[in-house]
Amino acid sequence: MAQPKRPTIVGGVFGLPCPPAAKSASPEFLQGRRLLLANGRSCLHVLLQELKPRTLWLPSYLCGSILEAIPKRGVSVHYYEMGFGLKPESTDWLGKIRKRDVVLAINYFGIGRNDQLMRDAKSRGAWVVEDACQALWAQPDASVADFTIYSPRKFVGLPDGGILRINTDKPVLKHLTKPVPASASWWMDAMDACVVRAEFDRGQGDRRWFELFQKAEANQPCGAVEISSFSRFALENYFDWDAIANARGKNYRALATELADVALYPKLPTHAVPLGFPIRSEHRDRIRERLFKEQIFPPIHWPIAGIVPARFTESHRLANEILTLPCDQRYDVSTMKRIAGLVRKALASR
Ligand SMILES: Cc1ncc(COP(=O)(O)O)c(C=O)c1O
Repeated sequence: MAQPKRPTIVGGVFGLPCPPAAKSASPEFLQGRRLLLANGRSCLHVLLQELKPRTLWLPSYLCGSILEAIPKRGVSVHYYEMGFGLKPESTDWLGKIRKRDVVLAINYFGIGRNDQLMRDAKSRGAWVVEDACQALWAQPDASVADFTIYSPRKFVGLPDGGILRINTDKPVLKHLTKPVPASASWWMDAMDACVVRAEFDRGQGDRRWFELFQKAEANQPCGAVEISSFSRFALENYFDWDAIANARGKNYRALATELADVALYPKLPTHAVPLGFPIRSEHRDRIRERLFKEQIFPPIHWPIAGIVPARFTESHRLANEILTLPCDQRYDVSTMKRIAGLVRKALASR
């Protein structure tokens, strides 16, 4: 007897990859001087331990996990303001930068990199870190940022991995402690989440991947913890990066055609590879509920209440309205049209 067809799920953790038939040329994030660790926050932690800044400047719109990376003592954290459109609100704070402070600038969604801000900070003698955890294809550029941090596992199904790309020629990371392997139990949970998700996507197994993923996320390491040899090998051999980038771009443009009025970035810049398709709406929660009912799971990047000071009202307004629609390589344009139609319906309903 034929099995009843199970609904496919849109969004959530990526399944473990099968090696592709064709491999593309090695992308920038796998080239140059770099350190491979367990995740993005470990890269930032190790870097801050080395640079020992008196002050770390963070954008008022950020992922809370960044705060885990800040050494417990010796660094004072200041925020600079990002507005509702993820552009810096003022330049006054730049005047307060002292030599060898660290300024972290996020490349939002692989689309919103604020080059001018980074250049201004650099010209004042700060170390500039481009946080490209949402921007795997970001071009490292030493005139803009001294370091670039990537988190490939947000783009493909891998249990671990963070890349610290060193763009500066200055001698840095001389005192680095030798990274240790991650705890086996954490890594097995993270790996299991990818394996079970891959089985699920092939029509076998159950939804245990969700719990496993949440457990692994809650226990992410942060320190001098090395990437697994599995993830290192997979990054270099398992993915057709060009095909992934193209699929993401195509899906993004399909959503942009239908949802330009609510898009945070209505137009995808040439060469940008998106993490997802962020929209803004006062009716965000209603849209999300509607999509959940259809087994589509858009994340919120990011809830910042209780993390970022309340005085950054525009950032908090954005956090209340933003929703990231999935547009990754697992899906095609017909799924994008379906998502856009559901968003439209949710917007129209009262
Ligand atoms: C912008 C940004 N920076 C850093 C991180 C931390 O990356 P990881 O989860 O690989 O530690 C995240 C995680 O979501 C992020 O979105």
